[in-house]
Amino acid sequence: MTLYGKLLEREAANNPIKVGVIGAGQMGAGMIAQISTIPGMEVRGISDIQLESAKRAAEAYNDSSAKKVDIQVTTDFKEVIESDDVEIIVDATGVPEVGAKIALATLMTKKHLVLLNVEVDITIGPLMKKMYDAAVSMVHPVTGLFPYANAGELFVYLGIANGVVEAGYSQGSLAVRYFLAGIVVIFIRGVVTERITKFLMKRAS
Ligand SMILES: NC(=O)c1ccc[n+]([C@@H]2O[C@H](COP(=O)([O-])OP(=O)(O)OC[C@H]3O[C@@H](n4cnc5c(N)ncnc54)[C@H](O)[C@@H]3O)[C@@H](O)[C@H]2O)c1
Repeated sequence: MTLYGKLLEREAANNPIKVGVIGAGQMGAGMIAQISTIPGMEVRGISDIQLESAKRAAEAYNDSSAKKVDIQVTTDFKEVIESDDVEIIVDATGVPEVGAKIALATLMTKKHLVLLNVEVDITIGPLMKKMYDAAVSMVHPVTGLFPYANAGELFVYLGIANGVVEAGYSQGSLAVRYFLAGIVVIFIRGVVTERITKFLMKRAS
């Protein structure tokens, strides 16, 4: 099915993608205006440090949208990120430091993040990817339950398994132990990453 088809499905099911936009400047306001005419998507929150810009974008949205939406408007982007009425965040601020804070706060809520903010992408993008991957590995069943799906892990496992077989032992009990150790290690990594992230966020704010 095409992306447009999926959007039409969500529209028909009255289950639109609920978008929060941070930064209602040229790109943010333009994107908000576009979403007002796209089926299956609704803007539910807008944040800008210039409240007037956010208000103007919300009014323009409702002027051109067939369905009037109650849009949260605020100068504090955390309110949009943490809103139960928003499931995906768009960063359209263009400020690297602000983008880093938005990314961390979004990660903590486990919501999706879309970057128009290319400045944050080219500065701390690689670091952000590592943090998001670490968070995902905490909850993703493939890497969580089958750590040796990773080629590097498989190499290590087979090396140990060959030694075990040559020494005359069964490979079965090694597989079970390796499997259980993998789950424990992934779990600890997830908890530690989450705690460190929370600590750094508290120190930064
Ligand atoms: N303008 C373009 O043609 C274009 C094209 C492609 C990509 N982009 C990218 O899109 C992003 C936005 O560009 P733009 O041209 O819309 O910039 P802009 O300056 O017009 O808009 C940025 C908005 O973010 C707001 N903002 C700043 N700090 C904030 C904070 N802490 N909380 C909430 N809002 C905050 C500003 O008040 C402003 O309204 C940039 O990353 C840019 O590189 C722009």
